[in-house]
Amino acid sequence: MPVFGIGTWRMGESNRDRNGELDAIRHALDLGYPMIDTAEMYGDGGAEEIVGEAIKSRKERPFIVSKVYPHNATRTGTIAACERSLKRMGLERIDLYLLHWRGGSRLEDTFEAFHRLKAAGKIGDFGVSNFDTDDMEDAARVDKGENGANQVLYCLSRRGPEFDLIPWMEKRAIPLMAYSPLDQGGLLGKSALKKLAVEAGCTTAQLALAWLLARPGVVAIPKSSTRERVKENLGAVDVKLTPQILAELDKAFPPPKTKQSLQML
Ligand SMILES: NC(=O)c1ccc[n+]([C@@H]2O[C@H](COP(=O)([O-])OP(=O)(O)OC[C@H]3O[C@@H](n4cnc5c(N)ncnc54)[C@H](OP(=O)(O)O)[C@@H]3O)[C@@H](O)[C@H]2O)c1
Repeated sequence: MPVFGIGTWRMGESNRDRNGELDAIRHALDLGYPMIDTAEMYGDGGAEEIVGEAIKSRKERPFIVSKVYPHNATRTGTIAACERSLKRMGLERIDLYLLHWRGGSRLEDTFEAFHRLKAAGKIGDFGVSNFDTDDMEDAARVDKGENGANQVLYCLSRRGPEFDLIPWMEKRAIPLMAYSPLDQGGLLGKSALKKLAVEAGCTTAQLALAWLLARPGVVAIPKSSTRERVKENLGAVDVKLTPQILAELDKAFPPPKTKQSLQML
């Protein structure tokens, strides 16, 4: 899986914003973003439609991640939801298909559907989202060792997963997709981050993203519907952080000392 992509939550919700959102995704692809993260939930399928429009007739298509709603994640419901997502995006295959969060459906049923979709070539890989360590343990009992990712809320201001979830995932080489890597913009006003960004010679958003990218097995998927920010965020890939900046970030945004339940947006 690529380590960087564009998120699409809040896209596809209104016709008025559609052209701007489409333009932002197209711009991201022109700049070389290798991945798009979406979900059937976003804009009630509207975000997947915009993704489909953006990737239509491109020579190379990016790695596509989408997600099934927990209430659709039954044995037959997962397959039907995946087929609807494929249709909306005009695709034959979703590269990574995730259970959006753990809901009422039995994990055995969701994973059986995932295995069937994979065998049929409709998805390349599958995984989960918003799973804490105990949920990952439960998933490990039914995933036949094939759980390909866990997408969770993780950024400088929300480092809870570092206590036990990340070590658990690292041991099994399962990538962590960090969602809301800018804390939905909330991180960008923090004075400590602003000061360190000047020292690092990058913008605040780039520093927040570069910190994630410096961590092994972590993938970042910032969302922006603005051309300039789409470009700025990609610049994080080239930011090299010194041990001194990393130590100062640890001081300003300390890692957890005890278990914290996984937060979810
Ligand atoms: N699995 C899950 O449950 C889950 C939950 C949440 C999110 N996600 C995924 O993760 C993606 C990213 O998370 P997110 O959208 O919640 O939050 P985010 O990427 O942390 O932040 C997005 C917000 O920050 C603004 N922004 C982006 N780049 C900026 C920059 N360089 N300078 C200033 N502001 C900037 C955006 O505004 P503009 O658009 O106006 O630029 C938007 O308001 C989502 O889009 C979605 O694909 C998954």
